[in-house]
Amino acid sequence: MLAERMKSLAPSSTLAVQAKAKELRARGVNVISFGAGEPDFDTPERIKQAALQAMREGQTKYTEVGGIPELRAAVCTKFQRDNDLAYEPADVLISVGAKHTLFNLFTAVLDPGDQVVVPSPYWVSYPEQVKLVGGVPVPVVTDEATGFDLDVDRLRAAVTPRTKIVVLNSPNNPTGAVFSRVALEAVATLAVERDLLVVSDECYEPMTYEGRHFSIAQLGPEIKARTLVVNTCSKAYAMTGWRIGFAAGPRALIRAMTDVQSQVTSNPSSIAQWAAVEALAGPQDDVAKMAAEFDRRRRLIVGSLNALPGVSCVMPGGAFYAFPNVSGLFGRRVPASPDGPEHALAGSAGVTEFLLTHAKVAVVPGVDFGSDAHVRMSYATSTELIRDGLDRMASALKLLG
Ligand SMILES: Cc1ncc(COP(=O)(O)O)c(C=O)c1O
Repeated sequence: MLAERMKSLAPSSTLAVQAKAKELRARGVNVISFGAGEPDFDTPERIKQAALQAMREGQTKYTEVGGIPELRAAVCTKFQRDNDLAYEPADVLISVGAKHTLFNLFTAVLDPGDQVVVPSPYWVSYPEQVKLVGGVPVPVVTDEATGFDLDVDRLRAAVTPRTKIVVLNSPNNPTGAVFSRVALEAVATLAVERDLLVVSDECYEPMTYEGRHFSIAQLGPEIKARTLVVNTCSKAYAMTGWRIGFAAGPRALIRAMTDVQSQVTSNPSSIAQWAAVEALAGPQDDVAKMAAEFDRRRRLIVGSLNALPGVSCVMPGGAFYAFPNVSGLFGRRVPASPDGPEHALAGSAGVTEFLLTHAKVAVVPGVDFGSDAHVRMSYATSTELIRDGLDRMASALKLLG
């Protein structure tokens, strides 16, 4: 009954962990979760008020497919203010979250067999979306020793005549890497030379802790003309549930993506769009406050992780994820428990399972993101829970033989 393409849509081990954590909670077990991909803050009040006002004013009908003109103008204001990038509203598309933006993009650009270079570790949805439209994701490894910065030589070697897109994600999910300007410059040169489209997913822009965020599109008109900059209200404004993502780039590409969207979802929620106008164009102080709090937690969690035997963690420059290397635990003996017999720890899924069973701590296995030596831990959770969770992990690791 199902299409061939469903055979390659990998069932996520993330979901298996979540299911197990849920089951433990249902049994009354207190599980501390580091799995969340969203801020633990509430959406700022000014944004909620804008949504209420929009409803009261009757902004409850279909809107322009690509977004209300006011929001597309606010997106242009944001790009000019924060990134020194000049766009016009016709260069902008508003979608139902950045995830939807990306799916519009891959649908509009990829023919079956076209290749998309994806630096690895990667956010899981890039390769899966590429595969859904018949494209071929080509993962290109980044090294922990460089803080997971782009490896331009490897990227260059991965480009073939079938390569159409390079996906950049900085700050990065899951590694927290902020790509260096030198690497971005080299990718820009490569993209121009080899006629590639660059997709720059900048969803974690405000969570850049050292220096200022820098977009590859800022490197000059030639690269800007072949870059789609993707961003979202989800993370910066704690608006994950509102589902507003946006993109700016070459006008013909934006038009094609808008045509795709017109046949699939039409406009994103009219009310959420008005809330997003306030989010992007209103005062930005809540963004900096949230980022400062994440920065404190970042230092706490990374310091505590590095104090665990067999675990090492590079200091991420952005986003709200720590990506500790847990391969030093592989081969250690896990004692028998009601959940299973004695066995040797193996792989990121094994470590995840061990932490859930013996520390009551939920993390996400790195294998989902392209690295089986790591686990991902979101620090979008309270300082108290970070302390408790890390104490639990330290105690659990003492059980290993
Ligand atoms: C790297 C990255 N890009 C895009 C998104 C999509 O965000 P949204 O669809 O909520 O805008 C996420 C969400 O987790 C992400 O981590």
